[in-house]
Amino acid sequence: MCGIVAYVGPKDAAPILLEGLQRLEYRGYDSAGVVVSNRGLKMRKVKGRVADLAAVVPARFKGTLGIGHTRWATHGAPSDVNAHPHLSADERIAVVHNGIIENADELRAKLEADGAVFLSETDTEVLAHLIARTVEDAESLAEAVRAALKRVVGTYGVAVVDAQRPGEVVVARNGSPIVLGIGEKEMFAASDVAALVRYTRQVVHLEDGELAVLKADGFNTFSSDARETAKEPLTVDWEAGHYDTGGYEHYLLKEISEQPETVARTLRGRLDDRFHIAHLGGLNMDARESRSFRRVKIIGCGSAYYSGQIGAQLIEELARIPSDAEPASEFRYRSPVVEPDTLYVAISQSGETYDTLAAVQELKRKGGRVLGIVNTVGSAIAREVDGGVYLHAGPEVSVASTKAFTSTAVAFALLALHLGRVRDLSPADGRRIVQGLRALPGQIEEILTLEPRIKELAGKYADSPSMMFVGRVRGYPVAREGAQKLKEVSYVHAEAYPASELKHGPLALIGPEMPTVAIVPDDELLDKNLTTLGEIRARGGRVLMVGHREADPRLADDCLVVPRNEIELDPILLSIPLQLFAYHAAVALGRDVDKPRNLAKSVTVE
Ligand code: G6P
Repeated sequence: MCGIVAYVGPKDAAPILLEGLQRLEYRGYDSAGVVVSNRGLKMRKVKGRVADLAAVVPARFKGTLGIGHTRWATHGAPSDVNAHPHLSADERIAVVHNGIIENADELRAKLEADGAVFLSETDTEVLAHLIARTVEDAESLAEAVRAALKRVVGTYGVAVVDAQRPGEVVVARNGSPIVLGIGEKEMFAASDVAALVRYTRQVVHLEDGELAVLKADGFNTFSSDARETAKEPLTVDWEAGHYDTGGYEHYLLKEISEQPETVARTLRGRLDDRFHIAHLGGLNMDARESRSFRRVKIIGCGSAYYSGQIGAQLIEELARIPSDAEPASEFRYRSPVVEPDTLYVAISQSGETYDTLAAVQELKRKGGRVLGIVNTVGSAIAREVDGGVYLHAGPEVSVASTKAFTSTAVAFALLALHLGRVRDLSPADGRRIVQGLRALPGQIEEILTLEPRIKELAGKYADSPSMMFVGRVRGYPVAREGAQKLKEVSYVHAEAYPASELKHGPLALIGPEMPTVAIVPDDELLDKNLTTLGEIRARGGRVLMVGHREADPRLADDCLVVPRNEIELDPILLSIPLQLFAYHAAVALGRDVDKPRNLAKSVTVE
C-alpha cells in the first residue's frame, strides 16, 4: 500500500525521508519519490524500489523540509510520471496522497476545461492543481488544502508543501492513516509509525476529517470546519529494532520464530490461577454485560478472518454462545442486521484495514457493541471500538501474517475463557484452559525444532501445481489458514475444504498430482479424519498429515507430529508447522517471501 513520510526541522530532509520510506517498504509498493523545499521545490521520483530512488537523489539535494511517498498503483500503471509527489503546473505545490479520489475524472475534466495540463494518469494530480488555484489568495496553506479537500469525494491521507511557505507541511486524513511524530525542534508525519520510530516515540494519530500544520517547533490540528482540536500524544513502545530482520534471512521466518515470546506477551498478566479466568481490562464490560450477549459475530479480512474462525469455535465451545466469523469485506456490503444482544468482534493486525474499519463504523452507526482484537496500539480500529484486547505481538513486517494470527487466536482463547467463566464454564475446565494457555509458548518452541524436517517436506511437495488442505471442525480454520499461507507466499495453488465435504465434490480433483495436507488432531473426530485419509489414498492422493501421532503408513505418506494441548487450544499449535511449510515452499521456489507479488501488508483502500 502507499506510504507517506514528511519532515520539517533543522536537518537535511532527504536522508530522513528516504530512511522513512525504506521502513514502509514492507507494506508493498511499486514506485517512490521525494520533494524537498529549498528556494523552490526539488523533486525526484522513480518506478522501482526506494534504493532506486536513493540512487537518483543527488548529493546536493538540500532542504530542511520535505515529503516522500511509496506508491501502490491504483489510477495509472507504475511509472516515473505516475509516482508521487505530484506538482502543480507552476511547481509551487507538491502533494503526496494515499487512498482513492473517486471523483477524480470529473475534477480533472473541469480543471482541463479551465486550461490545466496534466502530466500523469493519477487521481492525485488533481489535488496539486486544486490547491495551486486557491493558495495565492488563501490566508494559509491549510486553508487552500482544506478548500481543495472539500471538493474531493473519496479517501485520503495527504501531505502538502508550498514552495512559498518553506517552514510548514500540511497533512490531512480521511480514511487513510496519518500519524504525527513529535521530535526535538522537528516534526515528522507518516502513514505508519514504522517510519517514525527511529526518530521519536511520541506520536499523535489524526482522526478522519482532521488536518494538521507541522512546523519545526510544533504542530496544530484542526477539524474539517477549521476549529482547532486538542490532541494528547501517545508513546509507542515499538522500537526501530523491531523492524530489523534480526539476523534472519526473512522477516517471515523471524516472525514465525518469535512466536514463543509474542504469545507469552499476549498472555502476560491476563491469566488468573485463583479463579481460572482471564483478565482483560480493556473490554470495558462488567460481568453482567458479559453475560447478556446471545450471539458473537466476528469480522476481519484475510488471515484475521481465519483466526476469527478459530475464535468463533473457541467461544462457542468454552462460553456456549453461538458464534461465527465472516469476512469484514463481505459483511459491510450486505446491510447486516445489527442486533443489540450480539457482541461484535473486529480483528486487525494493523488496525487500519479499510474494509474492517468501515464495517466497524457501520456497526457503530447502527448501535452495535464492538470489541477490537488489534495489534497496533492507537490505530484507527482500536480508536473506533468500544473496548478490546491488544495483542502486544510487536510490529509485523512480512506481508503474510503469522505471529499476529497466532496471537489473535490466543486472544480469542482468553476472551472465550472470560466469557465462559462468567457463564457456565466450570472452574475445573477454566483451570484446564489456563494451564493449556500457559503451556503454549514452550510447545511452540518445540514445534520450531521441527523446522529441518518441515523444510525437507516443503521441498518435497512444493513443486506440486496445486495442494488440498483439509480439516474438520476445529481443524478446518487451520486448514484454511494453511492454504492461505501457502498460496500467498509460494504462489502454489492451494484450496482448503472441510474434510467432511471432500466426498461431495473436490474428491474428483484428488490424484497423484494433487497432494493433501490433512489436519488431524487427536480429538473426538480422529476416526472420521482417518477414514478421509483412506479415501484420499485410495484415489492415489499423497497425504501429509499434521497431528498428534504418527499415522499408519497406509493412510499418510508423511506425518508432522506436534505437541498436544487441550483439544480446544490445539488449533493454535497445529497452525505453526503450516507457517513453516509455506515459508520453506516459498524459499524453495525462489519467491519474494516478505513481499509477495500483488499483495500489500495493510489494505487501506476499499
Ligand atoms: C492484507 C494482508 C493479509 C492480512 C489482511 C488483514 O490482505 O495481506 O496478510 O491478513 O490484510 O490485515 P489486518 O491488518 O487487518 O489484520
